[in-house]
Amino acid sequence: MAESRKNKVIVVGCGPGLKAYMSPKAMYHIKKAEILVGSRRLLKLFPGVDAEKVVLEKNYSVLTQKIAEWSRSKQVVVLVSGDPCFFSYTRMIVRKMGREHCTIIPGISSIQLAFAAAGESWDDACFISLHGRNNEYEHLVKKVREYNKVAILTDHKNTPAVIARHLLKHGVQKRQMFICKNLSLPEESVLETDLASATNMNSGGSAVVIIKNTNHEVR
Ligand SMILES: C[S@@+](CC[C@H](N)C(=O)[O-])C[C@H]1O[C@@H](n2cnc3c(N)ncnc32)[C@H](O)[C@@H]1O
Repeated sequence: MAESRKNKVIVVGCGPGLKAYMSPKAMYHIKKAEILVGSRRLLKLFPGVDAEKVVLEKNYSVLTQKIAEWSRSKQVVVLVSGDPCFFSYTRMIVRKMGREHCTIIPGISSIQLAFAAAGESWDDACFISLHGRNNEYEHLVKKVREYNKVAILTDHKNTPAVIARHLLKHGVQKRQMFICKNLSLPEESVLETDLASATNMNSGGSAVVIIKNTNHEVR
């Protein structure tokens, strides 16, 4: 028997962290939430919203099941960073609920801010996430050779220095590197450097790194 569902689950892209980057449509849905799910950082952005707040940590599978149950009687809104359709928890929710039981509200991705900060177009770029992942370096080297621009989501383990060392070790050279941290936040930093200089950098945490081939001629 088909499960009866009252409400679609609404997944809202909250952008890179600054509330001013969120759309009025995103805010409309957040204000109407009965259950608001998100990381501590994102939930803190909405102290005035009168919803039950549920923290999303490493409890993805358990929480996805609960979201499906709650959605039968309540309006669940899930907050995700950046854009929901770009390297996000959203895919687990859509897989569990079914596309027809979800509404996705786009957000501004960290990638968009990083390319804007670097003054570069992103329509010709390749995207890779090393966030929470291991063993992706072979794939990274392949893509950096193949594309003139590669944007990488990093984390505390896969830092700009680790990435630069891997690329140099595999013979990749003549690349410009933009290291974009805390985009849109008061502690934002955007650094332009090269692979050799980046190997000594003590720059951890989440960031977007753009690797650009300086051999490539602009047409
Ligand atoms: C789970 S992914 C989510 C990506 C998100 N869906 C998006 O569109 O930006 C988290 C990664 O996004 C990047 N990120 C998110 N917010 C950022 C910000 N304000 N500044 C720099 N990087 C950010 C970091 O690489 C972080 O490790």
